Amino acid sequence: MKLFVYTAELDDIQELAEAGLADGVTTNPSLIAKSGRDFIEVISEICAITAGPVSAEVAATDTAGMISEGTKLAAIADNVVVKLPLIMDGLKACRHFADAGIETNVTLCFTPNQALLAAKAGATFISPFVGRLDDLNTDGMDLIRDIRRLYDNYGFGTQILTASVRSSNHVSQAALAGSDAATVPPSVIRGLLKHPLTTSGLQQFEADWAATGQSIL
Ligand code: E4P
Repeated sequence: MKLFVYTAELDDIQELAEAGLADGVTTNPSLIAKSGRDFIEVISEICAITAGPVSAEVAATDTAGMISEGTKLAAIADNVVVKLPLIMDGLKACRHFADAGIETNVTLCFTPNQALLAAKAGATFISPFVGRLDDLNTDGMDLIRDIRRLYDNYGFGTQILTASVRSSNHVSQAALAGSDAATVPPSVIRGLLKHPLTTSGLQQFEADWAATGQSIL
């Protein structure tokens, strides 16, 4: 499963990219607002760090506006993916970009039917929000399993990009459900590394090695 970093912070992307853990990046208007930076500048700087897909979300909610904004965003770099909301105008814009060979990420997906429509509109990625469904006391991961089955039943090529990921369990469950990718906050990616037996085991090896008095170099 591909790991996309859910952030607009360049330092986080840089570090994770150096470890091969950033297959791409996703942003949204909330992250851009939090960064306090210019949207176009941030996206072009992110694209300079990673060659993977970088999702940049339109602000317009009408088809013409989304097409204008998306065309500008797509011109920033070859790896920009135009992120569009899952509404009728968004799907019309999605079809426009698919026909033009520009990749799209259709976001704010909460049902298998919405995912079906996004695939028919030619979406490159569909972003189902598992955490926000969990917030409503439902199992967000059921949605990933359902979309996987639906897409496989009909051979849709749209990639499932599990979004609204909040925990390590979300990451492993998405992978086990066959999600193609997950967009994950840097803190959660770093959390995937952690295990107390790894920490204590390394401490023991360091102590034992020091006791040998040897040096490898
Ligand atoms: C990414 O595409 C989504 O905007 C993001 O995963 C939403 O996460 P949240 O529900 O934690 O805000």
